[in-house]
Parts: sequence; structure tokens; C-alpha cells
Amino acid sequence: MAVSPVSAVTEFSLRPMASDDAVAGHRLTQQLGWPHTEQDWAFHLAQGQGWVAVESDGAIIATALLWFYGDDDGTLGLVIVNEAFRGKGVANALMEHTIEAAGARKIRLIATDMAVKLYQNLGFASPNQIKIAQRQGVIAGSTPLPTHDGTIVRVAREDDYACIRTLDRNAIGMDRSGVINSLLTSSTGYVLEREGCVIGSVLVRESGRGNTFGPLIARNEADATVLLSKALSEHPGFCRIDVPEDAVSVGQWLDQNGLPVIDRGTLMQNFDNQPLKASPYKIYSLISQALL
Ligand SMILES: CC(C)(COP(=O)(O)OP(=O)(O)OC[C@H]1O[C@@H](n2cnc3c(N)ncnc32)[C@H](O)[C@@H]1OP(=O)(O)O)[C@@H](O)C(=O)NCCC(=O)NCCS
Repeated sequence: MAVSPVSAVTEFSLRPMASDDAVAGHRLTQQLGWPHTEQDWAFHLAQGQGWVAVESDGAIIATALLWFYGDDDGTLGLVIVNEAFRGKGVANALMEHTIEAAGARKIRLIATDMAVKLYQNLGFASPNQIKIAQRQGVIAGSTPLPTHDGTIVRVAREDDYACIRTLDRNAIGMDRSGVINSLLTSSTGYVLEREGCVIGSVLVRESGRGNTFGPLIARNEADATVLLSKALSEHPGFCRIDVPEDAVSVGQWLDQNGLPVIDRGTLMQNFDNQPLKASPYKIYSLISQALL
């Protein structure tokens, strides 16, 4: 790939990320104190495609990954520049390349405070000002909330998987079947069933420092909280959950149950808001900040 714009002090070129670059990616997240394991990197890379910025000796100094959902949508994440190379235009060059690769797709991302300007310069905005709260804590043991009105919360079976994919599509408005299928092979799923219909779900997987809970899909915050309480009760230890801050009562329940906010990101997109198809479902926690 052609050598990218060269700053006064740093020469670098861009190339596609290969699966064994996950090791270097992992080192960059470690430098930041982010919790990703090498397996998390491999999982994220396997779902999408990435690019790295490399110095003339081949050392990786930056990463960026892109995920496609169906023909029209995508997300972007794991945009990291080695501390020693920041402020020299590396992220900007990498982003221009990545966004070009996304073509006409509508791209969403969760921006750290540090990266908001980078994305604004590239046409991203946060029209709804939605913040995503990163919550985490160590749960020693908890009791699931009681259910009412014939509601059942149970472990998902294989015959629920199609329903979980449909719930996800309805809630997020993108077709993430590929990623959901991969998650289903390595997660424990819980579903909320009422009058014989599955109307909510959450997946729990090992990642980072313990377990990550998401995506969590439900019709309302009460159902989301019931699902979470069941999943948390069966997965004690270190828990991570990324919750949109407009889910106020889910947030309050997590505050009371040992999962405080430790950071916040901003949901940004490079397309105008379009009327959403009416859906009774909503995402109450993300798969990850990268995959949304
Ligand atoms: C955010 C990050 C990727 C920027 O990388 P970089 O190579 O230093 O960025 P660039 O030099 O290409 O700068 C791009 C733009 O972002 C701005 N910018 C860079 N660092 C910034 C900071 N710490 N705070 C505010 N703006 C910043 C630059 O000023 C520039 O805008 P300008 O051209 O209008 O001046 C890098 O700081 C990083 O890896 N941070 C830690 C991980 C992270 O937060 N990643 C983002 C995940 S969404």
C-alpha cells in the first residue's frame, strides 16, 4: 500500500491487518490499560477487517478496525495510536483510509473524549448526544429479581437463536447476524419469555477481566433489569456492561448493585438521522464499544 502522508517526524505506511497482528493490537490496548485480551482481539478481528500503520522497520504503531453489517451499515473501532506517535496525523491518515473502505455504508462508533475531534473532522457527529456508560465491578453473589405476569427468564436454547438474531436486528436496525452467530457459540444466553413469546435476551461471554454482558435487548427497562439480574446472579466475579445513559432506571439498578460508571463514550455517526422503523425493542447493553 502506498506510503501515507508523512509528517515532519514520522514516516509510516498503511497495510491490512493480518490475524497475527492481534498480538500487536493487544499490546496497544495494554499500553492504554484497556482490558482486552488477545482472544478479544482475535474475536473482533475475525468479525471484520482492520488496517495498521507501520513504521519503515515494520513495527505496528496504530490500528483501526471496521465491521460491516449487511450492505448498508457498519461500525468502526479499536482505533489506537501508540502513545509515542500521537499528534502526528497517524490516526487521521488511518481513518481516511478506513472510511474510504467503508464506501457508502452508514458508520457508527463510540468515541472516547480524546477522539471526538478526530471523528468530527471526518464528518461524524452525535445528533442525539447519546453517551454510553462503561460500567464494571466485582459481583460476589446476587439474587435474580422476581418475575410477574407469567414472565419466565431462562437459559437460551438452540431453538431460541433465530429469535435472538431477530430481536437484535429489530433493536439496533442493522443486520448483525454474523456477529450474533459467533457470539452464540461462545456465550451463555438468557431469554425473557412472556405468553410463550421470547421478547428479550442477553448474552454473557468471557472477555476482558471477566464476563461481558451484551447485547441486552428488551422492550423496556423493567424487562432489561430482570434479564440482567438473572444473568448476573449466575456469573459472579468481574462484570462489564456498556449501557446507554438514557436507560436511566437500568443505570440506577446497576449503581445499587455494584456496577458503577467508570468511563463514558459518545455515540457518533457519519450520516443524517433517518426515521427509525418503529420497533418495540431497544439495546440496553452493547456487545462491545467497537461492535456496538
Ligand atoms: C485519539 C487518537 C487515536 C488520536 O490519534 P493521533 O494520531 O494522535 O491523532 P492525529 O494526530 O491524526 O489527530 C487527529 C485530530 O485529532 C485531534 N486530537 C488528537 N489528539 C487529541 C486529544 N488528545 N484531544 C483532543 N484532540 C485530539 C488532533 O488535534 C487532530 O485534529 P486537528 O487536525 O483538527 O488538529 C490517539 O490519541 C489514541 O490512540 N488515543 C487512545 C485511544 C483512543 O482513545 N482511541 C479512540 C477510540 S474511539
